[in-house]
Amino acid sequence: MQLSTAELQEKICDLKSRLDVTVVAHFYQRDEVFEMGDITGDSLELAKKTRDDDAEFVVFCGVGFMGESVKVLSPNKRVVMPKLACCSMAKMIDGLYYDESIKTLAEAGIVKEDILPITYINSSAEVKAKIGEMGGLVCTSSNAKVIIANALKEDKKILFVPDRCLGQNIANEMGKSSCVIGDGSDPKESDIICYDGFCSVHQLFSLDDIAFYRKKYPGIKIVVHPECDPIICDAADFVGSTSQLIKYIKELPIEQKVAVGTEFNLVNRLRPKNTYVLSSSKPECPTMNETTLQDLYETLKAIEDGEPIGEIFLDEKTTKWAGIALERMMAL
Ligand code: 13P
Ligand code: SF4
Repeated sequence: MQLSTAELQEKICDLKSRLDVTVVAHFYQRDEVFEMGDITGDSLELAKKTRDDDAEFVVFCGVGFMGESVKVLSPNKRVVMPKLACCSMAKMIDGLYYDESIKTLAEAGIVKEDILPITYINSSAEVKAKIGEMGGLVCTSSNAKVIIANALKEDKKILFVPDRCLGQNIANEMGKSSCVIGDGSDPKESDIICYDGFCSVHQLFSLDDIAFYRKKYPGIKIVVHPECDPIICDAADFVGSTSQLIKYIKELPIEQKVAVGTEFNLVNRLRPKNTYVLSSSKPECPTMNETTLQDLYETLKAIEDGEPIGEIFLDEKTTKWAGIALERMMAL
């Protein structure tokens, strides 16, 4: 028999009270899953808060790279994921594609020693480890500007993976030049060289959507996540990570209309009035939405039964170098 949402939530709360677990949920999770989170937040907050938590099991409701980051930062914790869902952007680069990019840059006359690689946290532990081994570090959308500004002091070329939009948006904001590998330009001419990855959800927002809302509600604020295309970010009133968007919108007077360009679940629970999704379609992240209440219940039940499912395991070398790349970020 299928249990109702309320019944499943009751069972989950009961299991949580009896087990040594912390349930972690990203802002993009379905509402009913998000409500079960002991720790909620954006990717940077989740990485930090979970590291400071001392439960034996972290039950991570999000996408694969987020659970992996927790495991890397706290190798002694047991990290389980109700769904091992993989962010489509993170999937756009692996170790081989990363090596290929380094080779392409070498052919263009930029040697490895002159590159400082930075990876957006939306990447696998394998890619983070490659970057850590090459002296690079991780960033999130909340701290990308600080991390890149700091890296530019080293007088090296920045290789930014995998999100070309975040890389180019930060470059534009800082008045730095940027290019995308394979776009036909000479990477030697650019301060920030971006890998050609992107988020399929944040590509949904268009200039037409912005024009539609500006015409329909003159004075409306357009706010977007920096994974949106640079032309969208240029046309917006505010660009920020999920936490920054939430803070900005909470501080607006309630009568101020706002159209938001980020994942649907977050926008939908922002505030009851005068908030619109900046798209005519529903911008749901398919992988974030994979995790259901039933999955969370079954994961907790498996822990109770002594046979955890969906556990993350990483080899020692990956953990070491991905950890170094993440710790370099944390230190800043
Ligand atoms: P945040 O770093 O803002 O949480 O974003 C993660 C993400 O996947 C956005 O698409
Ligand atoms: Fe990945 Fe985009 Fe989903 Fe974020 S919204 S988890 S970047 S696919």
